[in-house]
Amino acid sequence: MADLPFFSDADFEQYRTLIYHESGISFTPTNRSILESRLKERLRENGMDSVKTYFAAISKDKEELKAFLDSITTNLTRFFRNQAHFDALEHSIVPELLKIRSGFPTTLKIWSAGCSTGEEPYTIAMLMQEILPPPWKFEIIASDISLKCLMTAKEGFYADSRITGIPDNYLKKYLDKVEGGYKIHADLMSKIRFDYHNLKNDSGLRNLDIVFCRNVIIYFDEAAQAAVINRFWDSMASKSFLFIGHSESLFGMDTKFEFVKTEWATLYRKFI
Ligand SMILES: C[S@@+](CC[C@H](N)C(=O)[O-])C[C@H]1O[C@@H](n2cnc3c(N)ncnc32)[C@H](O)[C@@H]1O
Repeated sequence: MADLPFFSDADFEQYRTLIYHESGISFTPTNRSILESRLKERLRENGMDSVKTYFAAISKDKEELKAFLDSITTNLTRFFRNQAHFDALEHSIVPELLKIRSGFPTTLKIWSAGCSTGEEPYTIAMLMQEILPPPWKFEIIASDISLKCLMTAKEGFYADSRITGIPDNYLKKYLDKVEGGYKIHADLMSKIRFDYHNLKNDSGLRNLDIVFCRNVIIYFDEAAQAAVINRFWDSMASKSFLFIGHSESLFGMDTKFEFVKTEWATLYRKFI
């Protein structure tokens, strides 16, 4: 592939300011090369040869701005990623919520924020389907800033190489073998609403019982992390739980979330 046309320090500054402002994602001189390679791809797809012309384009064309933001995201994920979180969900969080919510409407509302290609919400859905006793129900909202990822997630097709991590009994029960991979059952899919949502904005969601936002804020700087986390607070019900990635932390952040240590994993709770 041809080299990126001249990309000065001033261009880099302009791009990284726009990206930060539009998504919270923080590029630094250390990861500048990632931005350069993604930008090269967008220029090629748009038949452009100037980073300045492309900047002008994304400044006025909202759709191209979305495509550009999509292109700079890191979407690595997998089914049952960090099993300890799902053990904590099954053995500690869900039993506690069922106790706390007894007598209230019997639907648990869960948000997978930054769901990438869907492996995380489908993992949660399979597990909830297994562990929730009737009459309890659940609904999952799964959102991302990447439209490409959301399309994959909504399709529910995963190549053979991507289904590692799903226990055999779940694989048989919730997915069908199709050519080249597996397809999620329609009734499991119906439990999840996939939506485009940029975490720099308020989602409008309220009264959530559990939020998963794992391996997302790691790409944000401290101020953007705190803004996202405090918006989660507003979306969550009194007595609810927040899972973040195991290499992420709210330590030192100005937030009202309390740290919870279960036998399986650590997480956060809103307990007022
Ligand atoms: C590394 S993936 C994590 C996927 C999954 N949560 C997991 O832990 O396996 C991070 C996801 O966050 C999304 N993301 C990054 N910035 C975002 C933003 N401002 N709003 C919404 N999603 C964002 C990316 O598009 C990407 O799909």
